Amino acid sequence: LGLALLLVAPVVAQDAAEALFEDNCGACHQSGGVGLPGLAPPLVDAQLWAGLGEEAPKYLAGVMLGGLSGTIEAGGQSYIGLVMPTQGELADADLIAIADYVLNDLNQTGLTLDPALLAQTRAAIPSHKTLRDLRKTAF
Ligand code: HEC
Repeated sequence: LGLALLLVAPVVAQDAAEALFEDNCGACHQSGGVGLPGLAPPLVDAQLWAGLGEEAPKYLAGVMLGGLSGTIEAGGQSYIGLVMPTQGELADADLIAIADYVLNDLNQTGLTLDPALLAQTRAAIPSHKTLRDLRKTAF
């Protein structure tokens, strides 16, 4: 049975990742990650994710584990005074699946969040300032 589950895993992975996103991120970032001014920024943002380049998985892991606060500009809107709470209670496998959904289904970066990078980020969660500074490098 274990082997059978392993074999079908890649087939269900994409739907599962989307469902995980909808359940854990969608209430704020909205279905499909389109965002809602006054609540949470869009996660479909070609300029941000392409601009981050190879740093995109690192930024995403940092925000998922550390949350984010402080003003940011996204999609032509200012997001002021909003705080994203940590999603660190989610299992690594779920965070990696969600990251894949954000990095590839929503933004076609071709990058994945490596389990080692996720573990490293859990061990040393970046400050919100560090994350905002990393974000600035994209623009
Ligand atoms: C309770 C609402 C909430 C939930 C749940 C939430 N977020 Fe956020 N998220 C926010 C807010 C608010 C911000 C903007 C914070 C700021 O303005 O500093 C944000 C920012 C982000 C950013 C940075 C976007 C940018 O333009 O730089 C990413 C990436 C992100 N969230 C991913 C996720 C993912 C992935 C999940 C699910 C695992 C998630 N968020 C769950 C509210 C939420």
